Amino acid sequence: MATLKPDDFLDEVEKSFVRRRKCDAREPLKTGLDLGTASVVLVTLDSEGRPLAAAQRQARVVRDGLVVDFSAARALVEELKGEVEEAIGRELRETAIAIPPGTSERDTATHRYVASGAGLEVSRVLDEPEAANLVLGLANGAIVDIGGGTTGVAILKDGRVIHTFDEATGGTHLTLVLAGHYGISFEEAEAFKLDPANRRKILPLVAPVLQKIGTIIRRGLENYPVDTVHLVGGTAATAGIEKIVGLETALPVKVSSRPILATPAGIALGALPAGD
Ligand SMILES: Nc1ncnc2c1ncn2[C@@H]1O[C@H](COP(=O)(O)OP(=O)(O)OP(=O)(O)O)[C@@H](O)[C@H]1O
Ligand SMILES: [Mg+2]
Repeated sequence: MATLKPDDFLDEVEKSFVRRRKCDAREPLKTGLDLGTASVVLVTLDSEGRPLAAAQRQARVVRDGLVVDFSAARALVEELKGEVEEAIGRELRETAIAIPPGTSERDTATHRYVASGAGLEVSRVLDEPEAANLVLGLANGAIVDIGGGTTGVAILKDGRVIHTFDEATGGTHLTLVLAGHYGISFEEAEAFKLDPANRRKILPLVAPVLQKIGTIIRRGLENYPVDTVHLVGGTAATAGIEKIVGLETALPVKVSSRPILATPAGIALGALPAGD
């Protein structure tokens, strides 16, 4: 991302879900596909790294980085691809993808097959924290991705990931606590959680889960002293998380301006430009 600051870039990516731009027939494109536990996101940038169009769906086709419903995942990516293609007026042929650190060759291959089955050849495979850091641009420090299923800690030194640690606690667990407390379905609890009007009600109920996430982060940082913890991933948008993680880790905590978009946008930035 040559020209924009991280927050401005993420703002533009956010806008590109609705305000999409057509592109020139010959313009090289950079596309990124994020197959997450909670949602699947496709982002296409122009040759200068400016967002053209993005599309996303809530889906449960991946769990903890592993594809659990191949044909649904493939169909979904095909749908997102069609949506972005219609918006930009061009066919997409290639994409970059990202995998959680430590994903096996075989599981990585499954991610590739999902994309290629939907008509997108995988031109590059990134590590998720590396992708997020293409947006954040940290040389040293910790990036913590708190997604739907997992909390993943990545330590960066001189711009490279030198250590990772993850455990299966994320936004899904917050939703389950709310569903249990109110005696409602997962879907109802998810909607309740995401309604800004409920922010204050939620915090005391989910605080123990946020403390657990804080403990996971503290363990991930053991033996890796850092100055600041940078949070990305959708669950990083939970009100109050900054404070709780700060107390658990005794470190300053910074939440990305649009945490849910950092990884998908970074995957697109890391893509190799593809033309016709
Ligand atoms: N504004 C918000 N406030 C709180 N939680 C949110 C918000 N927006 C999204 N989430 C939660 O973030 C989670 C999804 O985040 P994200 O898209 O980063 O996960 P993912 O990449 O699909 O999952 P994973 O990385 O674990 O595979 C969901 O649990 C969702 O409920
Ligand atoms: Mg994710």
